[in-house]
Amino acid sequence: MLGLYKLARPVLFKLEPEKAHRMTLKIMKSGLMPVPPRIKASELEQQIWGLTFPNPVGLAAGFDKNAEVIGPALSLGFGFTEVGTVTPRPQAGNPPPRVFRDVKSQSIINRMGFPNEGLRVFEENFERFKHEEVPPPGVVGINIGMNKDQKDPAADYITLIKHFAKKADYLTVNISSPNTPGLRNLQDEDTLRALLKQLIASLNNAVGEYPPPPLLVKLAPDLTEEQQEQIAGVLLETGVSGIVLTNTTVARPESLPQAFRSHPGGLSGPHLRKASTQIIRNFYRLTKGKLPIIGVGGVSNGRHAYEKIRAGASLVQLYTGLVYRGPEVAHLMCQELMACMRKDGLSNISRAIGADHRNNNGGAESAA
Ligand SMILES: Cc1cc2nc3c(=O)[nH]c(=O)nc-3n(C[C@H](O)[C@H](O)[C@H](O)COP(=O)(O)O)c2cc1C
Repeated sequence: MLGLYKLARPVLFKLEPEKAHRMTLKIMKSGLMPVPPRIKASELEQQIWGLTFPNPVGLAAGFDKNAEVIGPALSLGFGFTEVGTVTPRPQAGNPPPRVFRDVKSQSIINRMGFPNEGLRVFEENFERFKHEEVPPPGVVGINIGMNKDQKDPAADYITLIKHFAKKADYLTVNISSPNTPGLRNLQDEDTLRALLKQLIASLNNAVGEYPPPPLLVKLAPDLTEEQQEQIAGVLLETGVSGIVLTNTTVARPESLPQAFRSHPGGLSGPHLRKASTQIIRNFYRLTKGKLPIIGVGGVSNGRHAYEKIRAGASLVQLYTGLVYRGPEVAHLMCQELMACMRKDGLSNISRAIGADHRNNNGGAESAA
C-alpha cells in the first residue's frame, strides 16, 4: 500500500493542490483506494461522551467538506472523522488558487473560505453513509459554520444544529477559520457566551426528550493567554461538552520561504504543532481536565499524537499529515502510539491523557 502511494504521490503533487484533493476524493469514493488491515486494539479504544472511539486518531475537518467519503475515511483506520465545515446554503468560497503547499516544510496554507454544497447535499451524502449495509466502525462528527454573507451568525449555526442534532455523533461549532471575515470575533468573551447559550438552548430544543449530542467548540491557535482564560471560563459556564484545539494559524514563522509565507490564509502542518500543543496544555489546566479536548495541529506520527494526549488531549486529528504521509497515516500512527504506550507501561490510552500535568518522569500509568 505504501508502495502504491509512493508511486501516486509525485503525480498528485504535480497537480494543483485542490485538483489533487478532488482526485483523492474520487479515488476514495470509487473504492479503489487500497486500505490497510484494521488495527483492533483494546488499548486504543475509549468511551468519551458515551461514544466508542476505536482509536484516538481522527480525520480533521475540511478534508471531507460535503460528507462524501465518511466510510472510506474510516476504512483507512481513522477512529473518527469530522465532516464539514458545512454551511446552510451552498457557497463557492474564495477565488482559486486558495491552497498552497510547501513540500520542504510539509506545510499548507489555505484560504478556502468554506466552499461547500450546503446542508441539503451534505445531508443526502450523510444519509447514504448511515444506510450502508456494514459501515466501518468509528465516530462521525459534523463541523458547522456560517455562510459568508450571513449577518446574524447564530441563525446559521441554529439552522444547522436543528438539522443535525439527531444525526451527528457530535457537533463542532467552528468559530476559528481565518478565512471567513469576522468569524474569529465570535471567540470574544461576551459574544461567545451569548452565542453558546443560544446554541445550547436550540440543541436541547431540537432533540426533545432525547439526550443531545456533545457540542464542541473549535478555537484558533492565535489566542492570547488572557483570551484563553476568558474562553475557558465561558466554556465551563455555558456547559459545552468539549474543545477542538486548534484550527490553522495566521502566524508565519520566518523560516518558511517568503513566496510561500506571503500567501494570506491559515497555515497548517509542523509549524503549528508546538503552538497547538501549548494551547491544549493551557486549556486542560484552565478547565481542570473537565472538558475532553481534541488536539489538532501538525500531528503526523504517533509520537506527535502522544505528545498532545499527554498535554491534555483525549483524541487527536490531522489533515496536513495525511497529505504528506499518505493514506496509511492513521494505521501507522496507531502502531506508533501503541509503541509509546508500551514504553510507558500503559494499558489504555486514556491513562496518558494529561499525564504531563501529573508528573514529568514518563511513568504515566503510575501517575494516572
Ligand atoms: C485545505 C484545508 C482546509 C481546511 N478546512 C477546514 C474547515 O472547513 N473547517 C475546519 O474547522 N477546519 C478546516 N481546516 C483546518 C484543519 O481541520 C486543522 O484544524 C488544521 O489544518 C490543523 O491540523 P493539521 O496541521 O493536521 O492540518 C482545513 C485545513 C486545511 C489544510
